[in-house]
Parts: sequence; C-alpha cells; structure tokens
Amino acid sequence: MLKLSRNVVALALLLLIGMPYGRTDSAPPAQSADAALVARGQYLAYAADCVACHSSPGGAAYAGGRPMGLPLNSTIYPTNITPDPQTGIGLYTLQDFDRALRRGIARDGHHLYPSMPYPSYAKISDADIAALYAYFMKAVQPVHQENRPAQIGWPLSMRWLMSLWNLFFLDTHTYQPSADHDAQWNRGAYLVQGLGHCGACHTPRGWLFQEKALTQDRRVYLSGAPLDNWSAADLTGDTTLGLGRWSEADLVQFLKTGHNATGTAFGSMIDVINYSTQYLSDADNQAIAHYLKSLPPAHPDDTQGWHYDPAAANALAGLKFDAPGSQTYSQYCADCHQRDGSGQALFIPALAGNPSVLDANPISLVNIILNGSSPLVVSGNPDFYRMASYRTILNDQQIADLVNFVRTSWGNHAPSVTPDQVATLRATTDAVQVEELNLLRMR
Ligand code: HEC
Ligand code: HEC
Ligand code: HEC
Repeated sequence: MLKLSRNVVALALLLLIGMPYGRTDSAPPAQSADAALVARGQYLAYAADCVACHSSPGGAAYAGGRPMGLPLNSTIYPTNITPDPQTGIGLYTLQDFDRALRRGIARDGHHLYPSMPYPSYAKISDADIAALYAYFMKAVQPVHQENRPAQIGWPLSMRWLMSLWNLFFLDTHTYQPSADHDAQWNRGAYLVQGLGHCGACHTPRGWLFQEKALTQDRRVYLSGAPLDNWSAADLTGDTTLGLGRWSEADLVQFLKTGHNATGTAFGSMIDVINYSTQYLSDADNQAIAHYLKSLPPAHPDDTQGWHYDPAAANALAGLKFDAPGSQTYSQYCADCHQRDGSGQALFIPALAGNPSVLDANPISLVNIILNGSSPLVVSGNPDFYRMASYRTILNDQQIADLVNFVRTSWGNHAPSVTPDQVATLRATTDAVQVEELNLLRMR
C-alpha cells in the first residue's frame, strides 16, 4: 500500500517537475516540424512549377520571369516572388499569399491576369498553401530585383475588369474529393487540376481566355490546345490523338524522365519535366497517370487508331523519291527517325503514329523542325540526342513538303501544311538558343 502510494507520489512529482522540462525538450521537435513544413512546401512548389514562370534564363530562381504573351499584343512578366521586402514578396502575410495564389489578387489589391494560373491554384488546400508560404518565406533566397513593367494595351490594361472575369470563370472551391473514386484517383485529380495546372496548357480556351473546363466534368477538359506556338497534346483517352495507346506505366515513365517507348517531351512540356514532374514521388506520378487514364475520349469518333503502312519505308529503301519531301526526309531525318519512322526508343521518338505528328494543328511539328528543342535535363544530366534547328538549312517550301510527307507516311493521316504557314511561324519564332538556357539551380 505504502509502497504503491509512494510510487504514485514519485510519479506525480516527476510529472510536475517534468512538465516544464518537457516543454523545453519539445523545442527541437517543434523546429523539425517547421523544417518538415518547409520541405513539404518545397515539394509543392515543384509540383506547381512556380520556378518555370517566375525565373528567367540566366537569372536567380524566383526573381522574376520570362515574358508571357497576352492577347492584343500585350506582354507581362511574372514577378519577383523571392522574400525580398522591397522588390519581392517579403511583406506578404499568409493571407496575402493565399489571396494571390487562390484569388489572383496581389498584396496591394491589384488583380493579376490568369497567366498566373490562380484559377487552377484555387483548388489547392489550406494546408498546402501554408506549406508553400513557409517555403517561400524561410527557404528561398531573397533577391533584390525590380519587376519589369508589363506592356498592356487598352482595354486589357484595366485590371479591375478581372473582377468581372473572376465572377464568371473563377471557381473558388478548393478540391473536393469525389466519393465515386478511390484515394489514388483523387490525389491524381488534385495534382492535375490544382498544383500541376496541366489544364492551363492542355485545355482549350474560350474567347475571354478562360479554360473551357477546369475538371473532367466536361469532355473538353485536357483535350489539347495551342499555346506559345506549340500545341499541347490531347491527354484524354482518344486512341489516335490522345493517351489511349499509353499505359499508366508509359505515363509515369514520361513524367519522370521525359521519355518513353513512343514519345519524348519537347516545346513547353520540357519545362514541366525539367522543373516539376521529375521531382514528384513515384506515388504522385502514378496518381497523375491513374487519373489521366480515367478520362474518356474527348473525340469519341477518334477510334480508328493508327495502323502501320510500309509503303513509304519501302519507297525510301528503294531510293524512290516521288513523294515531295521524301528526299529531304531521307537526307536530313532518316538517320535518327529511321526510314520506317520508328525512331530509336527511348531517345529518338517515333514519327509513325505519333500523336504530335497526327495533331490536326501542325504547329508543334513545324516549330520543332524550324527551331529545334531545348534540352531535357533529368537528374542533372542534359539529354544527349536533341532535335536540331533546320531554320537555316531548309526553306518554307521544303519544310512544308517534309511536314506533309511525315503526316501522310507510315499510316499517318493528317491535314496538309502550306509554305505560308511555315513562313508565318518562321517570322514569329527563333531557333532555340541552347547556350542561353541556364539550368536553374533549384536545390
Ligand atoms: C504559368 C506561369 C506561372 C506559374 C506556374 C506561377 N506563376 Fe505566379 N505569376 C505569374 C504571372 C504572369 C504573374 C504576374 C501577373 C500579373 O502581373 O497580372 C504572377 C504573379 C504572382 C504573384 C503576385 C506577386 C506580386 O505581388 O506581383 C505571386 C505571389 C505569385 N505569382 C506566386 C506564385 C507561386 C507561389 C507559384 C507556384 C505555386 C506561381 N506563382 C506560379 C505566372 C505564374
Ligand atoms: C506550359 C505548358 C504545359 C503544361 C503546364 C503542361 N504541359 Fe504537357 N505538354 C505541353 C506541350 C506543348 C506538349 C506537346 C509536346 C510534347 O509532346 O512533349 C505536352 C505534352 C504532354 C504529354 C505527351 C503527350 C503525347 O501524346 O505525346 C503528356 C503525357 C503531358 N504533356 C502531360 C502533362 C501533365 C500531366 C501536366 C501537368 C502536370 C502537363 N502536361 C502540363 C505543354 C504543357
Ligand atoms: C540527331 C538526331 C535527329 C535528327 C537528324 C532529327 N531528329 Fe527529330 N528528334 C530527335 C530527338 C532526340 C527528338 C526528341 C526531342 C528532343 O529531345 O530534342 C526529336 C523530335 C522530333 C519531333 C517531335 C516528336 C515527339 O513526339 O517528340 C519531330 C516531329 C521530329 N523530331 C521530326 C524530325 C524531322 C522532320 C527531321 C528531319 C528534318 C528530324 N526530326 C531530324 C532527333 C533527331
């Protein structure tokens, strides 16, 4: 009895004395909880690809970005989002930061244009916004760099108009999990619709520049769209143009490395692989793949698929160059992409049956031939094989013939291209300047 009550007293004393100690002892765990929040925020910043827009070639990460075109010949520059108090977002509170990300309103109250993908980021959870804020405030180096003024013509310059736009097109609900689907699907939907803002490039836009859908509720979601002189592919289940022929494993490999047996990332998708999806966990890339593979075809009549036809390869093998563009292909392209258009997996994509080649909009195809592709950098290593620029080697007629040859050979069927279309793109684009492209150091 006595023994027991003595123990009870000892225990009570221990607890009493231990309490304050307990509190000081818990300081290190509190700090590491902080570090965990910052690390989580960094991961989310990768998933949201903030760096790709908010940094410019040769510049510091997040210190302000490359020009982005707006309609009516206007240009804006993603701002300095380092925690510098004068030129960056150092004075932003969590509430200010939240309002910029999910409502498109800067700290001083001015409306942002949806080039900042706040209509997608509106889906981000409160907890993830807090983690992102912790990362930007505590782990990003402040850089003192003035923002470049936007060049915006009237009437677009009236930023307050965006409040009306938001009324129609901004859905202010964070992502609501769907009870009809499992946790993996919901995680994938959250990443694709929210942080990954895949729809900002892959969903067609309406005449007021709004994405025609922000979720899979409408078939037009992620059904492919033109932007910045590229055509972002159809990511729905379409057999010929979409991801109908890709498995979830193909998609995971593509998001992790920029390559798989049939495709290689190029154009603006390079930024997504270089700065974002390669850093995601396997589980998150699998969730994205699982969600995308659940999207039904956006063009249900696109079911004929693609079937290889050997005629073009046989003609090239027999040195029969009757088809316009076939000799150019044989001379400049066949070494890498092969006479039968099969490429060389994993690094040289097939042109036979390739959705980018079959796309009704030929802009990606003409662009990559004119200007080449920027380097894909995975795990710090720039890719070895790269598409060169043929701008100075081939004229508009030769490129049009070549494109039409590629679009009608090996079983491919796609509408033809005119030399004028090539000339227009030539005049408005430049060859990729590889030496100009610094590889931003993010870690
Ligand atoms: C697709 C390009 C793009 C991406 C990705 C992007 N931003 Fe932006 N962001 C912009 C542009 C453009 C502006 C300026 C818009 C304007 O001036 O109307 C901007 C503005 C901002 C502002 C307002 C700053 C100020 O006071 O001027 C903040 C804060 C911001 N972005 C944070 C982020 C964060 C954090 C991420 C990642 C979670 C991110 N952005 C991802 C393009 C982007
Ligand atoms: C900045 C614009 C942009 C964003 C954001 C973007 N993409 Fe892309 N994506 C493109 C372009 C352009 C292409 C076509 C070039 C190519 O095939 O690499 C493409 C191609 C793809 C392809 C290859 C399709 C095929 O048939 O070859 C996949 C898969 C893909 N994107 C997935 C995604 C996912 C998932 C996201 C969001 C995490 C995303 N993209 C975000 C621009 C973008
Ligand atoms: C030195 C090898 C090489 C040569 C020669 C070459 N390419 Fe490519 N091509 C590539 C690589 C590698 C890619 C993948 C993108 C990248 O990493 O640059 C590519 C990508 C492409 C793509 C985009 C397809 C996709 O889905 O990724 C098209 C279209 C294309 N090449 C057409 C051509 C044409 C037409 C010619 C001839 C004028 C040609 N290529 C010559 C290596 C080559």
